[in-house]
Amino acid sequence: MLDLVGRSCLITGGSKGIGLAIATRFSQAGATCTLVSRHEESLRNAVSSLAKCGQRDHSFLVGDVGDRAFWEQAVKANPGIDILVNSAGQSQTSLLLRTPVDEIDDLVRVNLLGTIYGSKFYFKEMARARRGCIINISSILAVTGGGGSSVYAASKAGLHGFVKSMAKEASRFNVRINNILPGYVETEMTAALRSSTRADALLQTPLGRFGTAVEVADAAYYLATSGYVTGTDLVIDGGYASR
Ligand SMILES: NC(=O)c1ccc[n+]([C@@H]2O[C@H](COP(=O)([O-])OP(=O)(O)OC[C@H]3O[C@@H](n4cnc5c(N)ncnc54)[C@H](OP(=O)(O)O)[C@@H]3O)[C@@H](O)[C@H]2O)c1
Repeated sequence: MLDLVGRSCLITGGSKGIGLAIATRFSQAGATCTLVSRHEESLRNAVSSLAKCGQRDHSFLVGDVGDRAFWEQAVKANPGIDILVNSAGQSQTSLLLRTPVDEIDDLVRVNLLGTIYGSKFYFKEMARARRGCIINISSILAVTGGGGSSVYAASKAGLHGFVKSMAKEASRFNVRINNILPGYVETEMTAALRSSTRADALLQTPLGRFGTAVEVADAAYYLATSGYVTGTDLVIDGGYASR
């Protein structure tokens, strides 16, 4: 189904993992995508891979989503975005006592502030156009918490209140905003897990496997195309939170 034909999407973290899977899904549905990450070479490779699966007119922006100057420039360089996906994120694998203060700052700056900045700058445009959709990739750890993830969980939990509030502010402009809360998903982020942590996560996932980035991308496609869903946390976790 080509129901995103004519739609422009900006996808942070679009060079790999969940962000690239979402870009691929949206491109297959006819959308044009702009991918964002900090490394040009991986963005070039990602844009080449997108060109093989649908729309060909994709592009990229190099930048750090936690830097608000990046967003000020992005909205000027790439106006007219219909769908913003905030997928760029960084993980934490250390107890709070062992987490350097600089890393705490980075987790909050990238995962929480980066999403808020992107939403603020593009919401202004969307409100003017009287249409738009914002999708944030949060995490099931925002709800369950997890040892070694206190700051990461806090940064993602902040998105819950953000989306609930923004849905109220944005609805009258025909703009929708939602979070996806994935459980453990096979990407480079989880490839870095210690084998004991991975085994424990699998044990705690009733479906007995990690999710795939494509399964998260299907959820993003649902949110992008369902006109009556806003202010929601959509859980895609293999039952992790139900244990
Ligand atoms: N994988 C999971 O199990 C899982 C579960 C729940 C939630 N999530 C969330 O899903 C999102 C995507 O995760 P993933 O598994 O796809 O991770 P990934 O494979 O490590 O990809 C992360 C992406 O974010 C980009 N990125 C990181 N920091 C950035 C920054 N400061 N500015 C711009 N881009 C940045 C990376 O590119 P560069 O490094 O080149 O900048 C990359 O494109 C994250 O928000 C993560 O917290 C993942």
